[in-house]
Amino acid sequence: MPKITYVAADRSTETTLDLPQGTSIMRGAVSNDVAGIVGQCGGYAQCGSCHVYVEPSALDKLDAPESEEDEMLDFTACTREPNSRLSCQLTVTDALDGLIVRLPERQYR
Ligand code: FES
Repeated sequence: MPKITYVAADRSTETTLDLPQGTSIMRGAVSNDVAGIVGQCGGYAQCGSCHVYVEPSALDKLDAPESEEDEMLDFTACTREPNSRLSCQLTVTDALDGLIVRLPERQYR
């Protein structure tokens, strides 16, 4: 299974999970109690509480955000960066094996 690593905002904690293909990076975190990802809307790109910063060197492995995700990223609690994504919109595939995402300082304003 692909490995995804979640890094705490202050870099104090790294959690690497083996996740089944087809799940989302948000769902993998919530199912495994990774602190820092909430996923309040359940994965519908409507809450912004699954915001992550993707390792910049891996951005070319990801499809560009759909319009709904792109709009929601403007309303996340922490600053939107060029590597910001909603983890509920990132589907785990073998191509993402080894992906590292950094968590924002908070998911709520
Ligand atoms: S879980 Fe709500 S936007 Fe991702």
